Amino acid sequence: MSGKWVFFDLDGTLTQSEEGIFNCVKYAAERMGFPVPEEAVLRKFIGPPLIHSFQEYLGMTEAQAWKAQEVYRERYTTVGKFENQVYPGVRSMLRALAGAGARMGVVTGKPENSTRDILAHFGLIGFFEGISCAADARAEKEHLIRAILPEDAEEAWMVGDRRFDMEGGTAAGVHPLGVTYGYGSEEELRTAGAERIAHTPWEVAEIICPGVRKPAGAFLSVEGTDGSGKSTQIGLLTRTLEKYGFEVVHSREPGGTPIAEKIREILLDRGNGEMCAETEALLYAAARAQHVREVIRPAVAAGKVLLCDRFLDSSVAYQGGGRRLGVDRVLAINEPAVGDTLPLMTVYLDLDHRIGLQRRSRAAELDRLEAEEEDFHARVEAGYHELISRNPARYAVVDARMSREEIAERIASAVLSRLMEAEH
Ligand code: TMP
Repeated sequence: MSGKWVFFDLDGTLTQSEEGIFNCVKYAAERMGFPVPEEAVLRKFIGPPLIHSFQEYLGMTEAQAWKAQEVYRERYTTVGKFENQVYPGVRSMLRALAGAGARMGVVTGKPENSTRDILAHFGLIGFFEGISCAADARAEKEHLIRAILPEDAEEAWMVGDRRFDMEGGTAAGVHPLGVTYGYGSEEELRTAGAERIAHTPWEVAEIICPGVRKPAGAFLSVEGTDGSGKSTQIGLLTRTLEKYGFEVVHSREPGGTPIAEKIREILLDRGNGEMCAETEALLYAAARAQHVREVIRPAVAAGKVLLCDRFLDSSVAYQGGGRRLGVDRVLAINEPAVGDTLPLMTVYLDLDHRIGLQRRSRAAELDRLEAEEEDFHARVEAGYHELISRNPARYAVVDARMSREEIAERIASAVLSRLMEAEH
C-alpha cells in the first residue's frame, strides 16, 4: 500500500496568478492597439480560454484573438508566470502534510513547463512526487488525476478551488476537497460535490491529517550600524517573503511589546546622559527578555517567520564594543533573557559607520546612542565585524552602499535559500 496521497490544483489553490495574467492581458491589448481593460474586465480572463475572452471582453475578431494570444504567451512564458504568489500558509500546510507522511502531487490544466518553472521558482517542487499536466487545453481533470494516482493508494484527495477539480476528483474516485480562498465560491464547490471545504491552507492540512501540528517558523534578525537602512530593507524583504507564501511578522529591539517599548524610551532619551554602561546593557537585556517571551517564541511556534530589527548582536556590538563592556560580559547579562532563542540567520547591512551617521543626521533628530562621538560608533562597527568573523555561517553580509533594489535582491536571495533549506 502506498499510503495517503494528496493532489493539488495549482492556480487558485497553491498560487495566485492574477498579477501575471492581468499584466499579460494588458500587454497584449496594448500591442494589438486595443484599450487597456479595467480590473473588473481583467478578472474575467482568469479561467476561460484566452481566445474566447479576447473576443468576448475586448471585442476582437477571431483572427485578432489568436494573434493576441500569441503576444500574451510571449510575455507570460518569460516574465508573466513568475508574477504570481504563493497563498499565505501554503508552505506550512505542505510541510505539515509531508511531515505527517502524506505523499503529494500537482494536477493542473497548465502546461508542464510553466508548472515546473513556477514550482521551482517558489521552491515548492521538492514537496511533490508527481506532476500531471494537461497536454492540451481540453484534457479533463479526471484523466489527469488517474494518470498520477497509484493503484494501491489507501486514501487520496483532490484539493482545488473550482468545480472542475471537484468533478474530476469525484469521477476519479478520490475525495474532493474544495478551498474557498481561490477563485471559486463555496456554493460552486459544494454544488460540484466537494466532500469537505477549507477556508485556509491550514484547514486543508487539518482535514486531511487530523491533529497535525504546525511546523515551527523561523527567527531572523537584521543588524547594522545606525543609518544602514535596516527598516527599508525589512519592509522590502517582508513583501518578497509573503509572495513566496511565508507568513511574516516583524518586530524591533529595543521594543516590540508595550513593556519593552517603555524601556526603549528610557534607553534612547537624550536626557538620560548619566546612564552607566551596566544599566544600559541590563535594560536592553530586560526589554529583550520580555520581547523573546511575548513575541518571538510565540510567533515562531505559530509557524511565522519573525524578522527582527536588531537583536542580541546589537548588544554585543554597542554595549560590548561601543561601551567597552566586552563580549563575554554582555553575553552573560543576556543569557537569562534569550536562553536558546537565537536567530537562524542574521542579515548584516555593512556600511562604514561614518556614512551611516551622515545619513542619520540628515534624516532625523539623533537619539542618545546615535549622538555618541565617532569613536563609539567605530567600536560598534568593529564589534560587528568581530562577531561575523567568529561565526560567518550565520550571517548574510550585504554591502549597504549599493542601490536599494540591489541590496533587497541580495538579501532576498540569501534569506530565501536559508529558509527553504530549513523546510526539508
Ligand atoms: P534603532 O535606532 O535601530 O531602533 O536602535 C536603537 C538604538 O539602540 C540604536 O542606536 C542601537 C541601540 N541598541 C543597543 O545599543 N543595544 C541593543 O541591544 C539594541 C537592540 C539596540
